[in-house]
Amino acid sequence: DGTLRDHAAERGKFIGAALATGPLSNEAPYSTIARTEFNQVTPENALKWDATEPNDNQYSFSGADQIVNFAVANNQIVHGHTLVWHSQTPGWVQGLNATAMRAAMQDHITTVVGRYANNAAVRSWDVVNEAFEENGSMRQSFWLNTMGQTYIADAFRFARAADPDARLCINDFNVEGINAKSTAMFNLVQSLRAQNVPVDCVGFQGHLAVQFGFPNQVQQNLQRFADLGVQVRITELDVRIPLPADDTELATQNTYYTNMISACNNVTACAGVTIWGFTDKYSWVPDTFSGQGQALLWDTNYVAKPVYNAVHTALDGG
Ligand code: G3I
Repeated sequence: DGTLRDHAAERGKFIGAALATGPLSNEAPYSTIARTEFNQVTPENALKWDATEPNDNQYSFSGADQIVNFAVANNQIVHGHTLVWHSQTPGWVQGLNATAMRAAMQDHITTVVGRYANNAAVRSWDVVNEAFEENGSMRQSFWLNTMGQTYIADAFRFARAADPDARLCINDFNVEGINAKSTAMFNLVQSLRAQNVPVDCVGFQGHLAVQFGFPNQVQQNLQRFADLGVQVRITELDVRIPLPADDTELATQNTYYTNMISACNNVTACAGVTIWGFTDKYSWVPDTFSGQGQALLWDTNYVAKPVYNAVHTALDGG
């Protein structure tokens, strides 16, 4: 018995969920589960650039504040997602020249991070998200193509100035195991830290799929980053299944969730695991991968699925 958050807290870890503003205000079962089962939350969309600064210097924090206030009321910590990303960033940013883009980045980071700098619940930020291509080269985003690779160091320095106490993360997908992309991330983090760029943390998204296998050497990968002196965390865990799901696939999903939770349990520097939502009613998966889904812990009627018990057991010491 006990909730996920009780068991994570006993380990000194967080267990979190990405939250969406609509159901959080409209659906009692959604807010009840969010409040009772998790001790950490990440706004799924509400802190992204298109939500917070849709037009130059016109800021909007209604959605972000809703989630932060919910977290404060429920004794949860908040991870800010995300400041500098190639997606969900308005066109007015993408069209700027290098000097203006850098100034817009500084203003955005200063304003968004600064707003929550004195809020004790808001502890960490994804400063840069998804900077790599799958082969380990830098992603050919408008950030890279306009500002050059120093956009990354600039973003971290602006964030540190805006909140010296916040933990500053670089975050990506398909970096959970040891592969070309995670090794490129490793080399970048090592190099940035050698230059005193304030990178404190690496986020491993963890968007897994039963048909693709479990990533190689996840615990060893987390540990090699930890050995650089950074905190690590699983930031967006979900395990999608081609539908209809059969018993073998559901068992594989249980194993993948269990393995990810256990890898974090086994690495001291791993702060915790955030699941990218919690109910299959609200998941990015079916919108993005047609014919796939059932990636989360509760079904569309807010009934806990067997995979909830697997996560519970993994956190509880199983
Ligand atoms: O806000 C509009 C709404 O006004 C409109 O009516 C509706 C119609 O489609 O769209 C709404 O915007 C959607 C937004 O989510 C908010 O719900 C976008 O279309 C939709 O594309 C967007 O998807 C989000 C996606 O990021 C965008 O890249 C997902 O919810 C979110 O889960 C997903 O999260 C990302 C992480 O940020 C980074 N890592 C990968 C992860 C999964 O893609």
